[in-house]
Amino acid sequence: MKSLLIFSSLCVLLVESKTIIEAKQSVRKFPDGFIFGAATASYQIEGGWDADGKTENIWDHMTHKEPCLIADCSNGDVADDSYNLYKRDVEMMRELGLQFYRFSLSWNRILPTSFPDKINEAGVQYYNNLINEMLKYNIEPMITLYHWDLPQKLQDMGGWANPHIVDWFADYARVAFENFGDRVKYWITMNEPREVCYQGYGDVTKAPRLNMKGIGEYMCAKNLLVAHAKAYDIYDKEFREKWGGTVGITLSATWHEPEGDMDADLAETINQFEWGQYAHPIFSETGDFPPIMKEMIAAKSAEQGFYRSRLPEFTPEELELVRGSSDFLGINHYSTFLVRKIDERDSFEVPSYWDDMEIVRYQPEEWEGGASSWLKVVPSGFYKLLHRLRELYDNPPIMITENGFSTRGGLEDDNRVSYYRLYLDAMLDAMDEGCDVIGYAAWSLMDNFEWMQGYTERFGLYEVDYSSPERTRTPRKAAFVYKEILRSRSLDPNYVPDTTVMTIDGVNS
Ligand code: NOJ
Repeated sequence: MKSLLIFSSLCVLLVESKTIIEAKQSVRKFPDGFIFGAATASYQIEGGWDADGKTENIWDHMTHKEPCLIADCSNGDVADDSYNLYKRDVEMMRELGLQFYRFSLSWNRILPTSFPDKINEAGVQYYNNLINEMLKYNIEPMITLYHWDLPQKLQDMGGWANPHIVDWFADYARVAFENFGDRVKYWITMNEPREVCYQGYGDVTKAPRLNMKGIGEYMCAKNLLVAHAKAYDIYDKEFREKWGGTVGITLSATWHEPEGDMDADLAETINQFEWGQYAHPIFSETGDFPPIMKEMIAAKSAEQGFYRSRLPEFTPEELELVRGSSDFLGINHYSTFLVRKIDERDSFEVPSYWDDMEIVRYQPEEWEGGASSWLKVVPSGFYKLLHRLRELYDNPPIMITENGFSTRGGLEDDNRVSYYRLYLDAMLDAMDEGCDVIGYAAWSLMDNFEWMQGYTERFGLYEVDYSSPERTRTPRKAAFVYKEILRSRSLDPNYVPDTTVMTIDGVNS
């Protein structure tokens, strides 16, 4: 019975991807006003880990203390050396014809004590140099304030589990707005809270690896949401009128598909836990955590002998502060999972996030995938996700802040080319239906430190040679194809690039 159900959902997915492949045969246009970019993050590319006054963050700390937690025992000490090579990075943006570039700030580089009592001029200068170099060539900066590299000192005081972080983050955000807001119009407060909280506090798959299952991830989630909202509020009240920028949050949003028809509600539940946890408090009409999460965690907590729900409550003031605190919804999307109810095959720690949900997710081995174990190619999931976000949150403006494919390296990345084409095509399907997608960033501009996987998984449009001191960057085939998509503002499935020479042309020359 089970295998029949899996077979039937596989068939549905195959039929859907076939439709998309068929749709792919014609050239499709992107609407006027739609913007294209590429993304990176500070710890993954900058290097200069202790340069010019920068202090230690949780990734410096963890990788120095226990190097071989990382697949290749590497770290971000030098990474792509963008701290020194930012001009080459901007040159690559010009080669591609990017309209915007999404990068993140290193909190420790700007505030070495973690607090605004000392602003590190060299750190501010680095970001000013990068921003000014981009603006020279009409490339719009999009800044992420927090992309996972918390100051270690703040972690020592509890990090995102300490409610005082709301003020710590708000102070840091204000410093960033003050120093860069005259030139930066796109702000993202947080990158992927689900990974910050679940992987870092509820599990061991990201720094700081606290493994406080069923407790840490929920404390983190609440504080992070309030911190985000406070930063949004500061921009709104103190800077918006003067500089007219926009502030959003970026969520990781994986699509979950029922294994069979009977599991539709399970897929909805896991979607609510995975991204609804962060989207519902901000984008729904009522605010607060999704009702299903509140109910399930409260019931389990009571059963388990806790005196209150392990999911903390927002005060009425916090709830109102968080509700509506985003001008756009940033979405990082990569892949899709199938889901089924837990049964005797499964055992989860109690309490834990997965036990709270009582759901298992998986990806059939036969699905085509990238170098990352979790990255399978299911473009129809992207379409369904966008469709559902539109339904749930009254069609908010959506910025795709990351989408991309991993390989083990090499310039002939036909599978990455095909991934980008299929996913952009699925995105256009959702847009044709009325979904308000306003922009798209490829992850990533270049190869970089892929967290626990080190340099073993490569996401770059440009390949980076980590054996050369210059960290030589070379465009892959996907870079040439992406460039043509941006130049023509259309998706032509038959375009074959000439990969012999990369030039700078158009508006960025
Ligand atoms: C999302 C994260 O934001 C980014 O840092 C990471 O490298 C990519 N996913 C790929 O895993």
